[in-house]
Amino acid sequence: MLYRVLIRPFLFLFDPESVHRFAFAALRFLMAIPGVAAPARRVLGSDDPRLRVRAFGIDFPNPIGLAAGFDKDAEGIGALGALGFGAIEVGTLTSRAQPGNDRPRLFRLPADSALVNRMGFNNAGVDDAVARLRRRRNTIVGVNIGKAKVTPLQEAPADYARCATAVAPFADYLAVNVSSPNTPGLRDLQSVESLETILVAVRGAADAACPARRVPLLVKIAPDLADEDIDDIGDLARRLGLDGIIATNTTIARTNLSTDVDAVARLGAGGLSGAPLRERSLEVLRRLRARVGSHIVLVAAGGIMDSRDAWDRIRAGASLVQVYTGFIYAGPAMVRGLCRGLSAELDRTGVTSITDAIGADEVDQA
Ligand code: FNR
Repeated sequence: MLYRVLIRPFLFLFDPESVHRFAFAALRFLMAIPGVAAPARRVLGSDDPRLRVRAFGIDFPNPIGLAAGFDKDAEGIGALGALGFGAIEVGTLTSRAQPGNDRPRLFRLPADSALVNRMGFNNAGVDDAVARLRRRRNTIVGVNIGKAKVTPLQEAPADYARCATAVAPFADYLAVNVSSPNTPGLRDLQSVESLETILVAVRGAADAACPARRVPLLVKIAPDLADEDIDDIGDLARRLGLDGIIATNTTIARTNLSTDVDAVARLGAGGLSGAPLRERSLEVLRRLRARVGSHIVLVAAGGIMDSRDAWDRIRAGASLVQVYTGFIYAGPAMVRGLCRGLSAELDRTGVTSITDAIGADEVDQA
C-alpha cells in the first residue's frame, strides 16, 4: 500500500534503469545493516508449510521466485532473499562481460502494468559473478546463462558450456536462456537441433565442473514460439532428461495493450513483459503441460501480477512461478502478498498443499 501510493509514484518520475539501480542499491544497503535481513525475511516471506514445494531435488520454501534479469550480476542475493523469495534467478550471465545495448533501453507502460526492455544482456561476465556466488547463502539461487553477443551462433554450444563450467559448482540450478529477443539470432537457438547441441554441451560441462552433485538444468523459452515448436521442445526435454522448462521470457508481440500504438512503436524494439503477457504465457504453459505431464518441472513466468495469476499457473501445471514486472509494480511486499493469497486459495478450495494443486486443472477436467 505504502509502496503503491507513495513510493512508486515518486520512483516512476525518473528514468526506469536509474531507478532500478538506485532502488536495488538502497535495498542492499538496508539489508546489510546488522539485524535487518533476518526479521525482514520473517515478515516478508511465508511461514506456511503448505507452500513448500520440492522440485528437481530442491526444497523451495515457497513457489515464488524472482525471474532472471533483475539481479544480472548476482549482487543482491541476500537482500532479495530477505524479501521472502523462494528462489532468486540471477543473470543472464555471459562468458565475458558486455555492456548491452545503448540507453535508454528500459521503458514503463504504466497504463498496462507492463515494461519494454532491450537491455541486451548487460553483465560483468560469469567470472565476475562467481566471486559472489561462492559465498554462503540461505536462499536458493538459479544461474541463468546466455550467449555473448560477439560469439557467432555456431559457437553457441561452447560458449554456453564455458558459462556452465564457471558457475555450475555455485548454482542450485542452471537455466539456459535461448529466448531473449535482445541478442540478435539468439532465439533461433530454440530450434530442436541447435537446442539439443547446447543442452548436451551444458549438461556435460556442468557434470565435469561439479562431479559431486547433478546440477538441475532448465531451459527458458519465448512466448512467441509456434505451437509445434513448443511441443518439440517438450519432447526434447523428455528425451534429454531435462529438469525443467521456464515459460516464458518476454514477447516481441505488441498485443493486449491499451497504451497508444504510436507511443509503443516509438519505444522501438524490445521484449514486452507484465500484464499483457499473461494470457500467452499461460497458454504456453498449458501446452507444455499437456505435452510433458508431470515428467518435467514447469516454471511459469510472464504476467504474474497477483496471487490469482500465481494460483492459475500452479493449477495449469507450474511447480514454481517467477515474477519480474509484477514486482516492479507491486513493490517489496509482493512475495508476502502472493504467499498470503496462495494460502487463502488453499483454505478456500480445501486443497492440502501447493504440491497437490500443481496441474489440478487437468484433474478437474478429467
Ligand atoms: C528480463 N527478463 C530476462 N530474462 C532472462 O532470462 N534473462 C535476462 O537477462 C532478462 N532480463 C530482463 C530484464 C528486464 C528489464 C525485464 C523486464 C525482463 C525476462 C524476465 O525474466 C521474465 O521472463 C519476463 O519479464 C516475463 O515475466 P514478467 O516480467 O511478466 O513477470
